[in-house]
Amino acid sequence: MRIVKPSQEVLSEAAEMMRKGGLVAFPTETVYGVGTNALNPTAVAKIFEVKKRSSFEPLIVHIADRADLDRLCVVNEMAKNLASRFWPGPLTLVLPKRPIVPEIVTAGLKTVAVRMPSHPISLELIRRAGVPLVVPSANLFGQLSPTTAEEVARQLGDRIDMIIDGGRCPLGIESTVLDLSSRPTVLRPGSLPVEEIEKAIGEVEVKPAESHYSLKIPVRIFRGEFPTGKKVGFLAFTPPRKKVPAARIEILSPSGDLREAATNFFSCIQRLERSGVDIIYAEPVPERELGRAIMDRLRKMEESR
Ligand code: TXA
Ligand code: MG
Repeated sequence: MRIVKPSQEVLSEAAEMMRKGGLVAFPTETVYGVGTNALNPTAVAKIFEVKKRSSFEPLIVHIADRADLDRLCVVNEMAKNLASRFWPGPLTLVLPKRPIVPEIVTAGLKTVAVRMPSHPISLELIRRAGVPLVVPSANLFGQLSPTTAEEVARQLGDRIDMIIDGGRCPLGIESTVLDLSSRPTVLRPGSLPVEEIEKAIGEVEVKPAESHYSLKIPVRIFRGEFPTGKKVGFLAFTPPRKKVPAARIEILSPSGDLREAATNFFSCIQRLERSGVDIIYAEPVPERELGRAIMDRLRKMEESR
């Protein structure tokens, strides 16, 4: 792994790496993030892997051009107003997603979070990559968001392709996350004060996110027996060797690869949901690496109904 100072060559190389699905850490005005191509689901799965997350969380898509907001989500008047006032800057807007955004980016949610950072290094990297980037804070699961390149190296050092050392992040606190997909609600208080937002659009609610995708049909972890008299959708880890009494089967990974399984997880679940089955039975996956995040989400789905 390399810690490098930003130069024209470094920025071009790093942007190209991310465009192709590599992982690069760099400063934003809030905290250091680790970025990759938001439109590449496998690259996004790698992010969860290196952060050693035992669960999936929706990520923020970072853009450098206001026009990209319309490509990624359905924009309303409030969003236009706030984007023109506070972007680039530490405000993240949550809006209804368009199909171009991969399911793994939003962890299955119908909304996507977008922000335009103001740090010149982040802006330049996004521009040169030529694609939107997902950029979660560059910390390991359960640890604090880093504000210097050294802290990133300590947490993610040998697990990513490059760290760009652009000095200390000026703000040091994450962006404010504002949900505009229904009544304006601050989901994460952050660097942009809520009062500033209220001056622009009037009173907003402040409450933590209900960030779990809820299905219209029940999900059960498969424990060896299928129910009778129900139209079953089967979520297989690998191609089943025996005939399965299911109306519809989705396979997470033909080769049994956990990263590939994570990449496909939310889109397979949604295809089963749309296929008209009554219930989903999901084959357990090995509980290591990204398999932990898959099992965590399956358990939450099973508990929820
Ligand atoms: O300042 C920041 O926003 C930093 C820098 C690196 O840009 N990034 C960051 O990303 O903090 P991350 O992934 O560590 O945090 C993303 C936050 C989480 O709290 C997540 O739940 C929320 O944004 N979020 C993302 N998409 C969402 C969605 N569709 N609905 C609700 N919350 C969402
Ligand atoms: Mg974070």
